[in-house]
Amino acid sequence: MKGYTQGKMTEEFTDEEKKGLYKAIHSRRDVRSHFTSKPIEDEILSRILNAAHHAPSVGFSQPWNFILIKDQNTKSRIKKSFDEEKDRSSKLIEEPKKSKYLSFKLEGILESPVNLCVTYDPTKFGPFVIGRSSIPEAGLYSVCCAIQNLWLSARSEGIGLGWVSILSNEVLKEVLELPDHVVPVAYLCLGYVDEFATKPDLETAGWLPRLELKDVIYFEKWDDTDNLSWKNIQEIIKSNLDYP
Ligand SMILES: Cc1cc2nc3c(=O)[nH]c(=O)nc-3n(C[C@H](O)[C@H](O)[C@H](O)COP(=O)(O)O)c2cc1C
Repeated sequence: MKGYTQGKMTEEFTDEEKKGLYKAIHSRRDVRSHFTSKPIEDEILSRILNAAHHAPSVGFSQPWNFILIKDQNTKSRIKKSFDEEKDRSSKLIEEPKKSKYLSFKLEGILESPVNLCVTYDPTKFGPFVIGRSSIPEAGLYSVCCAIQNLWLSARSEGIGLGWVSILSNEVLKEVLELPDHVVPVAYLCLGYVDEFATKPDLETAGWLPRLELKDVIYFEKWDDTDNLSWKNIQEIIKSNLDYP
């Protein structure tokens, strides 16, 4: 770990190391079930949190905090909010989608050994943050970068993570006693799992497909998909890309 934090790093990634990184990215899943009873070792949990803490942040503001939760009573109060919000959101869609939505397992709050709330504190280091004056949301984006680091690090340790956003932020603030200015960004459920699915659950269930890479990339301006100066990469991204 020290080698990464002292002096300059000129060393290239080996092919094996690159493979590891792409494996973590492509095999990461949002996990809501299959949690085992194996507790997460404190050394491993610390490593995952440290990975999150080394995310990029606007103006190096590090605006995140991580609240670790294992108390069953706290979890039950959060689960109650999930149940209420899921019911409320189901009223926004018509049958047959409504029943399908209601049948999905969309959280693992009680079954996962560790719940984790990641928060955003816009007041850290005072009101002026380099890079945040024009786009205030950059603070929130930084917290999301930390969450993604955490997610990938957890995956590499064989730990499943599920993000639960079907929750009331008001309830989260009350239950976790957050100060008024602190924003709950993510409520995460972590634990060892029996398996990681190869595809997103929502893809397997036929809810939504994964879009093709070629359909999300434009060249030079919005909606330009066949700009001639980008011909070569257009051919490459049309093929079925795999990771090394
Ligand atoms: C901001 C955010 C909020 C999410 N909220 C939920 C949620 O409330 N419940 C859930 O089951 N999954 C949630 N997910 C997981 C997504 O459904 C999942 O990432 C997506 O279906 C792709 O699957 P994958 O993560 O396994 O690749 C959330 C993901 C993100 C990034």
